[in-house]
Amino acid sequence: MSKLKKAMEKAKVARNVVSPDFIKDEEGLSAVLGHYAEKHAQVRKEISPTYSRTRIVDIDERVLEKNKIVSLFHERAMTDQLKILRTQVLNRMKQLGANSLLVTSADPGVGKTLTAINLAVSISQEVDQTVLLVDADLRTPSIHRYFGLDISKGLADYLLHQAELPDLLLNPRIENLVVLPAGNGLPNSAELLGAPRMESLVKEIKGRYTDRFIIYDSPALLSCADPLVLSGFVDSLLLVVEAEKTSTKDIRQAFEVLREKTIIGTVFNKAKG
Ligand SMILES: Nc1ncnc2c1ncn2[C@@H]1O[C@H](COP(=O)(O)OP(=O)(O)OP(=O)(O)O)[C@@H](O)[C@H]1O
Ligand SMILES: [Mg+2]
Repeated sequence: MSKLKKAMEKAKVARNVVSPDFIKDEEGLSAVLGHYAEKHAQVRKEISPTYSRTRIVDIDERVLEKNKIVSLFHERAMTDQLKILRTQVLNRMKQLGANSLLVTSADPGVGKTLTAINLAVSISQEVDQTVLLVDADLRTPSIHRYFGLDISKGLADYLLHQAELPDLLLNPRIENLVVLPAGNGLPNSAELLGAPRMESLVKEIKGRYTDRFIIYDSPALLSCADPLVLSGFVDSLLLVVEAEKTSTKDIRQAFEVLREKTIIGTVFNKAKG
């Protein structure tokens, strides 16, 4: 073997073991970066053991489309408004150093759940960070229905000490998205949400998944105490109002109730284009 060939063979072997000698040459550098990216991915997997336990559930894309979860269909179907909302929410949360967001409204039926889902899906597709979508509307749980899922266990079971978090998390085959369904509805949800068990959940989520966005869906603010209780566990809030429906009086009242909280913005929903 010629000296040159020998040197090249040696280089190939060295490149495979990512010798720092080859960092200088471009091909070697990409090999190194590729190698480290792979290693990093492995490490990430290892430090998130619960993610690997997350149950994967099949969803029917037609159901999502019918239920207006448009954010899944990438840029093609995503409205400009949703892209703007995603950007604004991400920018604001970044400025605040926040990673948890509560979606609420003054009155029921204005589009909180759909906004929370579309936001969660679109963020999960935009940034390389997992988004945890929590159905904290224990009075009328509905996130599972939007995904076309028949789920009976969720946050309610955790709060009643009947299940642990890793057993309740779901991945609806959407990369980077994890859902914590509400489970069966609970009439005394405000007390349970205010109990120490909820605090442990928030701590567990925040502590174990520091690089994760957490989006909580909730009931309406002026109909029960739940959102106010939940607001104590999040860094930021998003208020949804329905065009031509939510009254100025109710918006004022909602802001008054949340006066000490960090409201990052208001979504003007169902406006006619
Ligand atoms: N931007 C929108 N365009 C069209 N329809 C919408 C929009 N947002 C929500 N809807 C529809 O309005 C209805 C209520 O939406 P959603 O369930 O998100 O409201 P909600 O505020 O979570 O209600 P609740 O207070 O009962 O939990 C649903 O039928 C949903 O499909
Ligand atoms: Mg809802």
